[in-house]
Amino acid sequence: MKWRAYPADVLPLWVAEMDVPLAPPVAAALHAAIDAGDTGYPAGVDYALAVRDYAALHWDWRGVDVGRTAIVPDVMMGVAETLKLVTSPGDPVVVCAPVYPPFYAFTRSAGRTVIEAPLGADGRLDLDALDTALSAARAMSGRAALLLSNPHNPTGVAHTRAELEAVAAAAARHQVRVISDEIHAPLVLPGARFVPYLSVDGADDAFALISASKAWNLAGLKAALLIAGPAAAADLRRLPEEVSHGPSHLGVIAHTAAFRDGHPWLTTLLAGLAANRDLLGELLATQLPQVRYLPPQATYLAWLDCRALGLHDQDTAIDDHIVSDMAGPARMFFDRARVALSSGHVFGHGGAGFVRLNFGTSQAILRQAIQRMGDAVRSQE
Ligand SMILES: Cc1ncc(COP(=O)(O)O)c(C=O)c1O
Repeated sequence: MKWRAYPADVLPLWVAEMDVPLAPPVAAALHAAIDAGDTGYPAGVDYALAVRDYAALHWDWRGVDVGRTAIVPDVMMGVAETLKLVTSPGDPVVVCAPVYPPFYAFTRSAGRTVIEAPLGADGRLDLDALDTALSAARAMSGRAALLLSNPHNPTGVAHTRAELEAVAAAAARHQVRVISDEIHAPLVLPGARFVPYLSVDGADDAFALISASKAWNLAGLKAALLIAGPAAAADLRRLPEEVSHGPSHLGVIAHTAAFRDGHPWLTTLLAGLAANRDLLGELLATQLPQVRYLPPQATYLAWLDCRALGLHDQDTAIDDHIVSDMAGPARMFFDRARVALSSGHVFGHGGAGFVRLNFGTSQAILRQAIQRMGDAVRSQE
């Protein structure tokens, strides 16, 4: 999608796909399946076993009980199905804004109401704002949910154990069920740690969604793992049968190989992403000194505060359905620099004036993009 959506002169640094070759163990598993004509329905618990072992080894978390897991078509379908388990139509779902835009769209199309809890200026959870939002949600319904991005897209924050314990305590106090989207978990960069939500005290009735799709660049190979905490096992058993019909067998094979054998590749990837994160800081300081950048602890996404450019109220014309999501600085960088970024305003409250830049690409492309963006700003001065 990243390289197909726009004309050839546009550098695409928007959707969360990386420009990397496929991890060799994943490629080998897929080749083996194709060579064997193994293209039927998925079966078995290998994906769950691979995640269980990966979590124990790399996150020091031994809480994945394969009996409390389900394979779902992808993370967002898993989120939507889990919302249906723990809330009813019209019930509120709290999200920490700004956040991954489908958190709004999927919640609303499931007939639920979004309540925003704004993040702090540092991009981290604001526990007081969260408490207020959970309280409002609880006042609306006895079946409310909190949808967490752990780590957080777009700010790249890796929530700490203390933060997550405070979330769990607040959720328990207001009797709100938590769904933790942990798709970016393997992408915590050197210097930070990933804390699985289900590993914190007080999170027993929560759900987590894990997937190899972001870290190993497998978005086209559909699968994800839904994990229920011990006190959510009965809810998980109510997952309708059709959900298990969605994941792709080749997706399950690829994701399983990634978690089982893909860590050496990931280690190299993370070193490259950390180098790109630093390079981006240097490039912005020289080319776009007006832009504020808090380097992410996780993900290959940079959340750039462009409000000083003064463009975020000037939403311009709409060309087509993808470009129409662009406004303010993203629109300007698209039109004048031919760089496609994700426009901050679609991430909800607090996003206008920001852009999300995907640095999961080559350093040559990154240099060229920031140079063009700098030129675009200078040409307007
Ligand atoms: C936080 C978050 N959740 C979910 C997704 C999408 O995952 P999937 O393709 O498995 O639905 C993304 C994709 O970028 C994401 O950033």
